[in-house]
This record gives sequence, C-alpha cells and structure tokens, in this order.
Amino acid sequence: MKRIVILISGRGSNMQALVKSNIAQAEIVAVISNQSDAAGLAWAAEHGLATEALNHRDYEGRDAFDRALMERIDTYQPDLVVLAGFMRILTPAFCMHYAGRLINIHPSLLPAFPGLHTHQRALESGCRVAGCTIHFVTAELDCGPIIAQGVVPVLDGDTAEILAQRVLRIEHQLLPQAVADFVAGNLVIQGNRVNRLEAGITDGLVCLKN
Ligand code: GRF
Repeated sequence: MKRIVILISGRGSNMQALVKSNIAQAEIVAVISNQSDAAGLAWAAEHGLATEALNHRDYEGRDAFDRALMERIDTYQPDLVVLAGFMRILTPAFCMHYAGRLINIHPSLLPAFPGLHTHQRALESGCRVAGCTIHFVTAELDCGPIIAQGVVPVLDGDTAEILAQRVLRIEHQLLPQAVADFVAGNLVIQGNRVNRLEAGITDGLVCLKN
C-alpha cells in the first residue's frame, strides 16, 4: 500500500476525484489544508478521512509554516504528497524534503502560464488549446518534471470561468491517472523528463474535444 497525503486550500474537487477513483494499492491517509474553512476539508471528514487544518497565518513566516506542515505530514509517513489546489508557494527546503514524492496539479499547459489567472491569460494570448499539467514539484514555482498533461480546446465565446470549467473536467480525469502511475511505480524521472517503465496505465496525455 502506498500512503498518500493530499494538501488543499479550498473546494477540493481534485481531491474528491482522487478519493473517488479508489486507486488500487493506494490509501489516502490524510487531507490537510491551510484554510480551516476549506469546503474540501469538510467533505473529506464526512467521508471518513483524517483531516487537519494548519492556518499559515498562525506562523511567523513561510519557513516556520512549512516546517510545521512537514512535521504534520510526516506523522502520516507518506509515500506521496499531492498538492491538489494548495494555494501556497512552498520553500525550497519543503520541496527538497519531498523530492520525487511531491506532485502538483496546475491549470495550464506548462511551461505556459505558471502562477495565477491561467485561464484569463490563455484567452488573452489567443491560445487555441488550454489544459492542465501534473508535475513533480521542484523549488521553482510550477516547474519540475511533467508527468501528464490534459488538453482542451479554447472555443469562441469562452470566458475565463467557462474555460476553467472545461479544464477542471480534464483535471479530474488526469490527476487520478497520474497518481495511479506513481503508485504502480511506473514513473521514472530522467533529468526534466518523466518516462514510463511500462505503457498501459496512461501515456500521460488526455484530450477533451469539447
Ligand atoms: C484547480 O484548478 C487546480 O488545478 C488549481 O486550483 C484549482 C483547485 O480546484 N491548482 P479544487 O480545489 O481541486 O476544486
């Protein structure tokens, strides 16, 4: 069994998709949020998962918060930590501590549009496709070896909200697949590239046509 800790900050729909996917040989051992009123935290508790809230405002700075967070996470002895809408920049020490076992979902086709407001920026840039990226986390924001990408069209008349909804549908497919690949031991990081030991689970690409 691989032990998974999920970090969230809000609604937690990606966390829910991951929980509902019931990945073989994986156990969600905790859901932790930096916002005690995160809707996703209530959902996780209702579904019998261990939950914790650590308010970043209770700590003196980023280092202190990340140290406390690491301490809490490590009590669960995770094989994998998933950032599923965790809206905090993490310190290099945190990223190093979980190197190779920390993954993030980002709502753009990286390396395009790291950071915030990805859908608005994709629209303003006239992109014909948008999507999401699952990647191993390194100290540089929204960088790190790419595990999988999901692609959706940008349609005439799209607003940032409409595009976000379309991208979210593919996020919910892609994250469980990427985690299943990790749990199966199928992912090998080689430099900035993630190779798969075996074809079959996913090839790291999902496309939605509409
Ligand atoms: C998702 O779009 C995720 O890619 C981004 O933040 C959003 C979180 O949504 N990092 P949810 O909390 O999983 O519903």
